[in-house]
This record gives sequence, C-alpha cells and structure tokens, in this order.
Amino acid sequence: MSLHAFGGGEGPALNRLVNENLAHLRPWMPWAREAPSEEANVEFVRRTVEEWESNVGFGYWLREEATGEMVGCAGLHRRAGPQVLEIGYWVSKDRVRRGYATASARALTSAAFGLPGILRVEIHCDAGNVASAAIPERLGYRLARVEPVAPRAPSESGRRLVWVVDVASWVAAAP
Ligand SMILES: CC(C)(COP(=O)(O)OP(=O)(O)OC[C@H]1O[C@@H](n2cnc3c(N)ncnc32)[C@H](O)[C@@H]1OP(=O)(O)O)[C@@H](O)C(=O)NCCC(=O)NCCS
Repeated sequence: MSLHAFGGGEGPALNRLVNENLAHLRPWMPWAREAPSEEANVEFVRRTVEEWESNVGFGYWLREEATGEMVGCAGLHRRAGPQVLEIGYWVSKDRVRRGYATASARALTSAAFGLPGILRVEIHCDAGNVASAAIPERLGYRLARVEPVAPRAPSESGRRLVWVVDVASWVAAAP
C-alpha cells in the first residue's frame, strides 16, 4: 500500500469507491449520508488539490500495490491550530484488516512532524468505533481526553476520543 497526493483526475475513481462503500462508511462518516454524484467527488478532489496548494490540508488516496487500485483515503487536516495536524482515514470494506489504515496513519504522523512548526498530531474517533480507535492506540498515541459531542453519523455515541502524540515521544519511539 502506498499513499498518493490527489493530483486532480481521481474524482471518477473516488466516486466509484465511495458509492461501493456507502453502507460501510455511513455509520461513522457524516459525509456518507447520501450517495455522492460524480461531480461532487470531482469537486472534492479539486478542493483537496487547492488545500494542498494553500497548505491547509493534505489529502491522499491509498493505492494497493498488488492491484494498483484505489482502496481508501487518508489525510492531514489543520483543525486545531497552527501547531497541530489531525489525521483522518477510511479503507474500502473489502480491504480492511490488512493494516492499511495503520500504515497510513504511521506514515502521515511521520510526515506531519516533518513539516515546519508541527508539535502534535491528533486522531479523533467516536468511542464506539473500535476499529478506528485501535489504530492510534497501536501506534503509541495516548488518549488525551473524551469529549461530549453531538453525534453527526448514525453509529456515533456522542463521546469523541481524542488521541494525541507529540513530536518528542514520536521521535523517541522511532525505530
Ligand atoms: C477504521 C478503518 C479505517 C480501519 O481500517 P483497516 O485498514 O482495516 O485498519 P487496520 O487493518 O490497520 O487495523 C488495525 C487494527 O484495528 C483493529 N480493527 C480493525 N478493524 C476492526 C474491526 N472491524 N473490529 C475490531 N477491530 C478492528 C484491529 O486491532 C486491527 O488489527 P488486526 O487486524 O491485526 O487485529 C476501517 O474499518 C474503515 O474505513 N471504517 C469505516 C470508516 C471509519 O470508521 N473511519 C474512521 C473514522 S474516525
């Protein structure tokens, strides 16, 4: 599996993948409520490329080496201030449990700390999302807090886990 920055032409492939995975994504991803049109995904990719250019977000698609297929997405987002980046991810339903999300989050954490001024990386997930919470935990993030939030996706409990790693502990744990 390798991570690729969105370059602009991935909208149709992304649209096919999201539509094949709607029932898998809907429980946890607020944006997966309804089937997106191809235009919506083309627009999403256009915005993602723009975010790269303006340095506000870094969106990637996951490419499976054996097949060359797009099998998910992951990204770094500036949501909690200038020194913090937040990681998000999803993986196609027929490719889960192969370590793709863990490998993506590991690579993105290292990439984040390679950027100027980044001191902390966070992963947020609902307390009920066992599959997602396993990822920061196994990467050595610490659970900093549990926040009450209004649920935005059907399976969310309204308890958001905020997993955090700071640059010193990431570097100290590096192999
Ligand atoms: C959460 C998600 C990204 C995990 O992707 P993945 O590539 O399967 O994750 P990994 O293979 O790296 O899994 C790492 C570990 O998480 C745990 N895990 C993953 N899926 C799990 C599941 N369905 N149930 C319980 N534990 C699970 C396991 O401990 C797993 O390791 P193991 O397979 O060696 O036991 C994927 O299930 C997904 O896309 N879900 C829907 C969207 C979503 O919830 N995104 C995150 C929002 S915060």
